[in-house]
Amino acid sequence: MIDMNFTYTFIIINLFVWIPWLWIYKVNPYFIKRALNNRLKEHPQWNDVKKIEALLGKLYRGVNASRLSKKELKRLSIKNDDFVYGEVDFLSFFTLLERCQPKTGEIFYDLGSGSGKAVFSAALFFNLGKAYGIELLHDLYNLSNEQIKKCRSLIKKNDKKYYDTISKKVMKINFINRNFLETNIKSADIIYINATCMNPATWDGIIQKLIELKSGSRIIVNTKKIEHERFKLLYSGGELMSWGLGRVRIYIKTS
Ligand SMILES: C[S@@+](CC[C@H](N)C(=O)[O-])C[C@H]1O[C@@H](n2cnc3c(N)ncnc32)[C@H](O)[C@@H]1O
Repeated sequence: MIDMNFTYTFIIINLFVWIPWLWIYKVNPYFIKRALNNRLKEHPQWNDVKKIEALLGKLYRGVNASRLSKKELKRLSIKNDDFVYGEVDFLSFFTLLERCQPKTGEIFYDLGSGSGKAVFSAALFFNLGKAYGIELLHDLYNLSNEQIKKCRSLIKKNDKKYYDTISKKVMKINFINRNFLETNIKSADIIYINATCMNPATWDGIIQKLIELKSGSRIIVNTKKIEHERFKLLYSGGELMSWGLGRVRIYIKTS
């Protein structure tokens, strides 16, 4: 009798833990991704977009930046919500960048670039002048630099035109090992901030930096709001992230 009770309790607890986990991290993202793929099939550059998504998929196969980040945080005894790790989904991020209408030669910054997924997406999907990633943790910064070399080696040299195009785009990528609050980002046209877990003080520091941007700059932000008269909301929607669906807002600096 005791054994049966224990078994039922064990099964019920597992159901309560695993079913929501499966739904949030596997089933729901699968359906969102499928819907996004179907919607983008109508896109005029769909074939190019898929080719780059496949390249990015290969580039990050087997890369576990979350584990790397946890190890470094433990080694440095850092306990700070600013460093909670999460990443973009390539295709969702492509659609967010498209909403910013990137122009040829514009400059992109990711504040807290982690393994570099957002920076690679911006540089490869669009014709930017520069794509910068600022990352404070050494191991993540080193990893993102390794990814530049890996990306070059992944491009098949027998397709010369594709190789030349992607190589030129990869050359626009630059990772900086620094605190983003102490980095000059005034040249930015498009900025991405994965700010979901960011502390209020850090977020306030970022707002002060955003105020210095040129008018017309676009800012993509996870979860947090920019409540300041110099910024106008362009878009707000649920987007796929490594942890499931997340609220993303896009702002434009007006003056
Ligand atoms: C949520 S992750 C985002 C990774 C990446 N932007 C993405 O979305 O794929 C936030 C990153 O910001 C980094 N970070 C946190 N505070 C920072 C700071 N003050 N300066 C630079 N990087 C920072 C963390 O180490 C972490 O890699």
